[in-house]
Amino acid sequence: MNILVTGGAGFIGSHVVRRFVKKYPDYKIVNFDKLTYAGNIHNLQDIENESNYHFVKGDICNIEDVRNAFHNFHITHVIHLAAESHVDRSIDGPMQFAMTNVIGTLNLLEVARSEWQDGKDHVFHHVSTDEVYGSLGEDGLFQETTAYDPRSPYSASKASSDHFVNAYFHTYGLPVKMSNCSNNYGSHHFPEKLIPLMILNILNNKELPVYGKGENIRDWLWVEDHASAIDTIFHNGRIGESYNVGGLNEWKNIELVHFLCELMDQKLNRPEGTSKQLIRFVKDRAGHDLRYAIDAQKLEAELNWKPSITFEEGLSKTVDWYLENQEWVKNVTSGEYQEYYEKMYGK
Ligand code: NAD
Ligand code: DAU
Repeated sequence: MNILVTGGAGFIGSHVVRRFVKKYPDYKIVNFDKLTYAGNIHNLQDIENESNYHFVKGDICNIEDVRNAFHNFHITHVIHLAAESHVDRSIDGPMQFAMTNVIGTLNLLEVARSEWQDGKDHVFHHVSTDEVYGSLGEDGLFQETTAYDPRSPYSASKASSDHFVNAYFHTYGLPVKMSNCSNNYGSHHFPEKLIPLMILNILNNKELPVYGKGENIRDWLWVEDHASAIDTIFHNGRIGESYNVGGLNEWKNIELVHFLCELMDQKLNRPEGTSKQLIRFVKDRAGHDLRYAIDAQKLEAELNWKPSITFEEGLSKTVDWYLENQEWVKNVTSGEYQEYYEKMYGK
């Protein structure tokens, strides 16, 4: 297999690329990434010299970039992760989300459709999110059959891309698979997102901005378990099907922040209760979805996938990674990110 992994220099993409490069030495893994603010080629420093790994700096919004990559590497399979991924940024500037997430995905679908006319085995695995299902009340879980009801510009753009992927399956018979995952956490997570932002602010004694009353609920999964789910679905999932990915691990934001504060007080040898004093309730996110929760029964029953570690273990590993990788943090938070941070939260 010659696999084009789009967005492979980002948070989840880098874990997918690392897993595939190490586990499948016979596959050619081509990481295709534009290296936006969220992409960092150093995320893959440990495997960059492996003979089955290749990097192409390219833009999915430019169809010639995509076509060239398909030709140069004889691409037979795609795992598509490249996207604009941050909800707050989508509220600020929805156009870029439509361009990357919708048009970019369409470009990939178009090239795959025209290049894969040889009757051989191909797979186009589209990586999507649970946010396409909208917002839950106090009960219930998102199932694959839940009607789409996206409510942020980010989730609207992802929902649109999911619809195009399904349309290419039904209309052109393109061999697609799709996964819709809950919130990921782990190493290499860009610090605009809740968990790494809180870890770094606790470390640096900065305020911890909790939106609204902190009552919104997210369902958290360790990023390496998401990568293992993608591996499972990519290889064994049925063509034309979508699979929900999650670990039944719901947390109210404020409870999660309290837990992180306690964990970091211990790790930093600070007196109990020190970090909690940094919590500040700030203006809520516009259209803030109340609750996400995934039912991953189909993936577990059909493909025998399960998360490998508990949230407590995963969060402890994640905190350790940030404490040990301050150089990485310095790298990604300098420059443009400083301006973004100050605009969002002040100095
Ligand atoms: P990320 O923002 O960390 O990484 C996105 C990557 O895509 C970056 O490397 C960036 O450089 C690249 N990229 C952006 N625009 C591009 C373009 N035009 N051409 C080529 N590359 C481009 O995102 P992430 O959190 O790793 O998410 C990856 C995928 O998984 C996204 O599709 C996202 O919607 C989905 N997802 C994320 C989560 C989550 O919790 N983070 C959960 C479910 C699904
Ligand atoms: O559910 C999957 C989605 O999870 C992915 O599709 C997205 O790409 C990913 O970014 C994530 O979206 P969220 O909006 O849920 O993640 P975020 O880390 O931005 O926020 C998590 C929760 O924390 C959310 O309820 C908003 C809140 N929050 C976030 C930030 C950045 C705060 O209270 N304060 C903050 O400073």
